[in-house]
Amino acid sequence: MANLIKAVRGTRDLLPPETGTWNFVESAVRDVFRVYNFQEIRTPILEDLQLFQRSVGEETDIVSKEMFAWEDRARAQSEKGQWLALRPENTAGVVRAYIEHKLWERPGLQRLYYIGPQFRRERPQKGRYRQFYQIGAEVIGPTAAGSESPAVDAELLEMLASLLERLGIQGWTLNLNSVGCANDRPVYLQALRDALKDVVHAMCADCQRRAETNPLRVLDCKVPQDQPIIEKLPRMSDYLDESCRTHFAEVQKILTAMEVPFVVDHRLVRGLDYYTRTAFEFTHGALGAQNAILGGGRYDGLSESLGGPPAPGIGFAIGEDRLVMTLQESAGVAAHPADVYIAPLGAGMNMHAAKLARELRGKGVVVVAGDESFKLKKSLETASKMGVRFALILGENEVNSGQFALKNLSTGEQASVGKTEIAGIVTPSK
Ligand code: HAM
Repeated sequence: MANLIKAVRGTRDLLPPETGTWNFVESAVRDVFRVYNFQEIRTPILEDLQLFQRSVGEETDIVSKEMFAWEDRARAQSEKGQWLALRPENTAGVVRAYIEHKLWERPGLQRLYYIGPQFRRERPQKGRYRQFYQIGAEVIGPTAAGSESPAVDAELLEMLASLLERLGIQGWTLNLNSVGCANDRPVYLQALRDALKDVVHAMCADCQRRAETNPLRVLDCKVPQDQPIIEKLPRMSDYLDESCRTHFAEVQKILTAMEVPFVVDHRLVRGLDYYTRTAFEFTHGALGAQNAILGGGRYDGLSESLGGPPAPGIGFAIGEDRLVMTLQESAGVAAHPADVYIAPLGAGMNMHAAKLARELRGKGVVVVAGDESFKLKKSLETASKMGVRFALILGENEVNSGQFALKNLSTGEQASVGKTEIAGIVTPSK
């Protein structure tokens, strides 16, 4: 027998009935985003590698270790190929599109959302995949349109709290921090480096490396022995300049007024380089080690670093795989059985079944049709196993009389009904 070909490591097939939960989540998300005036953007999955190097950052784990990137075939022998990458996240692509299509010329702030696959070559485990899905949103625009306002940050966070509530997800924690800006960050980084100099030798190998390449990430370390050392390191909050400090205070004030609970976590730094000021993550206990259900923050200098005009922005991305997992753990998966199974009885009946199915589907009925070669017993058993609530028997007599035997498969009751009555009986009341 030929070798079986399986889904690539870290990727997976999403199958029914689980896809029903994915659809439920996505339609709730679209409903909620709509009332906050967000509109959908779809950017390519394939981008120029430099886009991520210049936004997410060359020294980050995402870009230095986890990218699916390759040199694309050159168009001519004399040319070099272009380096392409499967997107590891979508913020960079959205800001690229914002610049490329001059979206700043449009009035007000751009409120954009996306739903789609992202790719990171991470070690797969529960809640961590190499192809995973994000539901994200970004608010970007010129400063004159109010893009820097702390009210934008608070509104985005309140939208997320509403979305989780709408989905029936409880027990989440919003962790919030300010990571400063181009003005105060260098001063903080210097203080951090100075403090690390004396203690880093006692820390884990990852921290020793990060102390050199990306000292902020030391704050993220989870190794137990390093914790007492990290707790004594300087805190960003003590280095925020006046404008960042008042910005962060205002975000917290509005959130408190809106009764959105949050915890200030001075060690929250996030794994992407573009962040400034507000940074946040929502975590959930049901998720285990990979407990971040979503993350985001401000990126006030990102547009300029990609060659665009000043366009402060803030956004988030929800890990859809993790969101669905949380829902399944709390609510279970709803199956979506068909409304009626048509059992054609005898030669020539498939055609009549097809006609009737077409008519019923036109009225919104979910129909599965059997085959004229099946014995009635087989048809009824198949329908029951599929969880279909009604079976409709269609033989020559029924076609001639226009009266059909409709069997309720959960109660066993059978009735003779006219064609026009079928849809009303089998469609579940909403
Ligand atoms: P991120 O924190 O890298 O941020 O990812 C956001 C969320 O995506 C995570 O909290 C997690 O739920 C999910 N996620 C990340 N990696 C994986 C994985 N390998 N498997 C499953 N889920 C995963 C960003 O991507 C930023 N672009 C968010 C953002 C938008 N910031 C501003 N705007």
